[in-house]
Amino acid sequence: MTRAIAITRTTAPKTKPDPNDLGFGRFFSDHQGQMEWTAEGGWGPPRVVPYGPIPLDPAAGVLHYGQAMFEGLKAFRQPNGSVKLFRPEAHVQRMIVGAPRLCMPSPPADTMLELLKAFVQTDLDWVPSAPMTSLYVRPTLIATDAFLGVRPANKYLFFVIGSPVGAYYSGGLRPVRIWVERSQTRAAKGGLGAVKAGANYVASLYAANKAKKEGYDQVLWLDSVKHETIEEVGTMNLFVVFGDELVTPPLSDSILAGVTRDSIMALGQDLGLKVSERPITVQELVDGEKSGRLKEVFGSGSAAVVSPVGELAFGDNKIVTSKGESGPVCQSLYDAITQIQRGTRPDKHGWMMPV
Ligand code: COI
Repeated sequence: MTRAIAITRTTAPKTKPDPNDLGFGRFFSDHQGQMEWTAEGGWGPPRVVPYGPIPLDPAAGVLHYGQAMFEGLKAFRQPNGSVKLFRPEAHVQRMIVGAPRLCMPSPPADTMLELLKAFVQTDLDWVPSAPMTSLYVRPTLIATDAFLGVRPANKYLFFVIGSPVGAYYSGGLRPVRIWVERSQTRAAKGGLGAVKAGANYVASLYAANKAKKEGYDQVLWLDSVKHETIEEVGTMNLFVVFGDELVTPPLSDSILAGVTRDSIMALGQDLGLKVSERPITVQELVDGEKSGRLKEVFGSGSAAVVSPVGELAFGDNKIVTSKGESGPVCQSLYDAITQIQRGTRPDKHGWMMPV
């Protein structure tokens, strides 16, 4: 049963940023949603309060052992001025499924969804309407218990904040240059890779930084055992077009079940492509480039939607895809998702939810 949500409005609304210069994750709206869990009382009442610092004991579990996870979804302004969230139920489910892997309590699905909606309703005027903009919504779950013993915490905070964001790539889809990382891994078999744990993103920083220093945009992550099979790219799931087949690696305990990944598979089928989930090796990319079978490589995620890969480099070798440009399949899928999100294409999968 859904619980009533208390709303305390800010008395000091912030000045809105320039909608043409939002970037990603730089500005934050006026409110936040919150809900606490204690071992004695379970989940407490959800509330919306003014945006601001969260009081946190310096001994809180999240600060020492990283017991934390998050989600990322977007709210879009519709042609009639209303606001809709893209696949919020899928994001809520992913947090519910992932939390137990981190020994965290899963917030109840209906309360979490109602809190997300109440938060966006409260900050409705923070959902930008300029082309390619949206409100990025960030639900987060952290351990707040003040205790240094290594065990699951007895207190948690679920909170949700929002950030008005622009297009990830202002000049259209820009193909990225990727370094194929052969020593570090993002996630190991049996590890946390399938969970949207903050730890996975920290684990990715060192190799990503190194790649950036060498002139690349991001890294291609391979399996942690043989470093042969492709897992993800940067912070995104990966897709490859071989001939008329759209392929993505199968989900495992080291690959995140991306909501955009799932949407792309559905839309790929709608576009008449053969969509497969199967392992892809670096060697298959090398062979595919030689034979001409390799057409496109791209990443998928909530933040950028898709990110075309123009070049993959390892050692002195280089694989160039779609002549280093954004390919037609990637572009069609980007158009399909973004038009559904903005209400200019029929939402036949029922992905958009009014707030
Ligand atoms: C996404 O693509 O949605 C991501 O996961 C990146 C995000 C952490 C900024």
